[in-house]
Amino acid sequence: MSKSDKIYVAGHRGMVGSAIIRLLKDQGFENIITLTHSELDLTNQNQVQEFFSQEKPDQVYLAAAKVGGIFANDTYPADFIYQNLMIEANVIHAAFKSGVKKLLFLGSSCIYPKLADQPMKEDALLSGYLEPTNEPYAVAKIAGIKLCESYNRQYGESQGIDYRSIMPTNLYGPGDNYHPKNSHVIPALIRRFHEAKINNEERVSVWGSGNPKREFLYVDDVASASVHVMNLDKEIYDQNTHEMCSHINVGTGEDLSIGALAKTLKKVIGFTGEIEFDSSKPDGSPRKLMDSSRLNNLGWTPKFNLEEGLQITYQEFLELK
Ligand SMILES: NC(=O)c1ccc[n+]([C@@H]2O[C@H](COP(=O)([O-])OP(=O)(O)OC[C@H]3O[C@@H](n4cnc5c(N)ncnc54)[C@H](OP(=O)(O)O)[C@@H]3O)[C@@H](O)[C@H]2O)c1
Repeated sequence: MSKSDKIYVAGHRGMVGSAIIRLLKDQGFENIITLTHSELDLTNQNQVQEFFSQEKPDQVYLAAAKVGGIFANDTYPADFIYQNLMIEANVIHAAFKSGVKKLLFLGSSCIYPKLADQPMKEDALLSGYLEPTNEPYAVAKIAGIKLCESYNRQYGESQGIDYRSIMPTNLYGPGDNYHPKNSHVIPALIRRFHEAKINNEERVSVWGSGNPKREFLYVDDVASASVHVMNLDKEIYDQNTHEMCSHINVGTGEDLSIGALAKTLKKVIGFTGEIEFDSSKPDGSPRKLMDSSRLNNLGWTPKFNLEEGLQITYQEFLELK
């Protein structure tokens, strides 16, 4: 691709979209189009079609979505399934109609069954029941993968359509959402440890036993994976995927317990009190780790270790205060 190609990043104010923009600009891409949610509501089909027919981008990164933690997913299931389905269907179809050949869709590791074998490989998709709390979101994300695959299958050869999907593990980093109820585990714990430090509290209570293991990826790493996958040679991409299992996992390949995560955050934030695990709260799946060997074999590895990524994230959190 050329540095003057017109690239549309949907969701550019979000954590991932803003990291993709930072990276594209660093790489010398200047013809990047962005519109805020209030300028272009991606759930509105007419607005999206009009935008694409006017702009006709060369590439699209689809990082706009309704995103949230367990509480938000469980409380607003209709919003999560409706908005995500509409965003994906509108953007992917309008991109196709306006002649976009290359598009990258961002899904999530929650597409995999609750009891999938660990680490989860791409072919675990649709092999079992989903985690009920975020099933509506996961179903919408699965539809996004299948939209990309279906356009490739129907129009790939005749019109050169090449739409790809990546499934990142749990992400964190600058630009995250620190809402007290609707956030993911890392921003929620950063807020709680920070507030406990400022208020000289003796202890911080963490949901669950602390035993479940999770994987976390720094957002600049998912941005580099996005650009890497978007620009992989088609022949190589096709050799490493299947037309009906075309998505690619993005993770670090390492997980840690929530207890170990809490201890690392306590150190990064400088909280000197105790950590208390509230075992009356649910733990969720005992382990969720992605198998990212497909992407590793395609030449990508993450750059940031967890403590380093958390340090940068906490600095940004302090600047927001
Ligand atoms: N965060 C994670 O841990 C994680 C993990 C795995 C995968 N992912 C995936 O990565 C992608 C980006 O996630 P993120 O964490 O960057 O989310 P985010 O910070 O919430 O950003 C999402 C962006 O999408 C925009 N948006 C939402 N609805 C829109 C609409 N109807 N029209 C226009 N824009 C709309 C939001 O704008 P407003 O804020 O103005 O609504 C926001 O800028 C998502 O597809 C998500 O599934 C995220």
